[in-house]
Amino acid sequence: MPKFRRFAQSSMSERLLDTMFLITIGVGYLFALLNLYYTHQGLDGKPGLSVEDVVISYYGSHDQTRLGAAINGPMAPNLPNAAAKQTILAWIHHGAGEAEFHANVEPIMKANCIVCHSAASGLPVPHFDSYAHVVALTKTDTGATIPTLVRVSHIHLFGIAFILFFVGRIFILCELPVWFKRVTVAVPFFFLLFDIASWYITKIYPEFAYVVIANGALMGISLAMQIFVSLYQIWIYKPKEAPIEM
Ligand code: HEC
Repeated sequence: MPKFRRFAQSSMSERLLDTMFLITIGVGYLFALLNLYYTHQGLDGKPGLSVEDVVISYYGSHDQTRLGAAINGPMAPNLPNAAAKQTILAWIHHGAGEAEFHANVEPIMKANCIVCHSAASGLPVPHFDSYAHVVALTKTDTGATIPTLVRVSHIHLFGIAFILFFVGRIFILCELPVWFKRVTVAVPFFFLLFDIASWYITKIYPEFAYVVIANGALMGISLAMQIFVSLYQIWIYKPKEAPIEM
């Protein structure tokens, strides 16, 4: 008889509850990955998720402004010619002053951009109806702001700590070497904490994007492992010692 409870001693209700919880968390995790993909992919102008996208999310693209990036990238076809693009880029380069805006840039935007970039269009895009609105898009892109990171951090820490705690509580009922279980339940919390810390460090050192990705991946792998091993032991695995019938 083991001193601590194992799945073999769980009632059928408990096994069903554990199973449904693990499956739902697993599906939730897949959606979390999809959400991650949709919020970060393509930021570097190329489809798909890359390290560069993660760098832009947290560090920003310091040599780019949102307006410059748009007219060099997805908004380029809306401009009538290369000269118009040069006029706007030159304006940004000169410091995006108001007089030059009204003289050179505003006419281009009125003719080519306002159809969509105005309240009248109803599109969820920045409005180009005033100097202040346009100039706001010419500041250097420094990635996610600290208030945004703080908000996402506390949601992540509270939410994921609960997930790791309950999945870990279930996982410790597995029949496995104790050292392995001790490491497995503790380590994902470190990955979580390092992951959040590396968001902030990536704001300063873009190379840390690799650490963000590695920590996120390791936490995901460890969560998936706990879910699959638990489900296996709940339903398929037969303990070596005489099983207790329920
Ligand atoms: C046919 C409609 C349409 C026209 C015309 C258009 N845009 Fe856009 N623009 C969009 C949409 C939709 C988005 C948001 C989707 C996206 O980012 O691809 C967008 C996004 C942008 C952004 C990115 C804003 C951000 O959040 O960083 C900028 C900057 C921009 N447009 C500039 C321009 C400029 C400059 C012109 C004129 C040369 C222009 N757009 C013409 C529809 C339009």
